[in-house]
Amino acid sequence: MTNKKLVIIGTGETANLAYEYFTHDSDYEVAAFSVSKDYLKEKTFKDLPVVEFETVEKVYSPDEYYAFVAMAGEKLNRNRTRMYLATKNKGYKMASYVSSRAFVWHNTQIGENCFILEDNTLQPFTKVGNNVVMWSGNHLGHQSEIKDNCFITSHCVICGQTVIGENSYLGVNSSVADFVTVAKDNFIAMGAVVNKKTKEDGLYIGNPAKRQVLTAKEYCGVTEE
Ligand SMILES: CC(C)(COP(=O)(O)OP(=O)(O)OC[C@H]1O[C@@H](n2cnc3c(N)ncnc32)[C@H](O)[C@@H]1OP(=O)(O)O)[C@@H](O)C(=O)NCCC(=O)NCCS
Repeated sequence: MTNKKLVIIGTGETANLAYEYFTHDSDYEVAAFSVSKDYLKEKTFKDLPVVEFETVEKVYSPDEYYAFVAMAGEKLNRNRTRMYLATKNKGYKMASYVSSRAFVWHNTQIGENCFILEDNTLQPFTKVGNNVVMWSGNHLGHQSEIKDNCFITSHCVICGQTVIGENSYLGVNSSVADFVTVAKDNFIAMGAVVNKKTKEDGLYIGNPAKRQVLTAKEYCGVTEE
């Protein structure tokens, strides 16, 4: 079987890691990188071409190449989401990476442009939306759902029957109790224990997690909308 050809959008550390994971643990072969022309400093990265995002589809046709947006989760994932939508609008099929060392039950549903690293546990009947990052070692309990554009850092425990709302960011070692909904646009601090449903655009810290006066968008510098 020939490998599927992939263009990675980004040349930062997430792109560096995406290259590693896709190359050594997937059936995609990375062909090139692409960044917006304002960020294009070097013509090559990892010995592969770097091309302008504005015209990438002319060089690497969406009929032949898949794409993956490899960016971090700052600004409540806004930058990553904008590039994901722009890439999709060019007609690319978006790849997801799911580590062969993750435990993923057969009926788990995973969307596109997801990045699911080693030691994640995704139990039966779980759902992961589009453009979701699950860094290493998280637990997603049965029947739980992570909506689009979330960033789950590491060693987060998301108990069964929970929902994590769009664009939300869960800091390392945070926990969400069973049947609890985290609203959209939440920033959950590292180590926070979310034991009740949260409200939109909240920064939550502590055990039990308390909503702060500063909102998540204010804390993360989200200014558009
Ligand atoms: C909550 C958070 C957003 C606050 O960051 P910050 O604005 O830089 O805050 P500071 O570090 O200046 O701390 C402000 C106060 O909050 C406390 N605090 C900070 N983070 C805390 C946390 N997670 N839980 C409890 N208290 C916390 C600090 O001790 C400090 O208290 P003090 O004023 O009594 O000394 C940040 O600590 C956090 O949790 N970030 C997520 C990190 C993460 O998961 N990264 C993933 C990397 S892959």
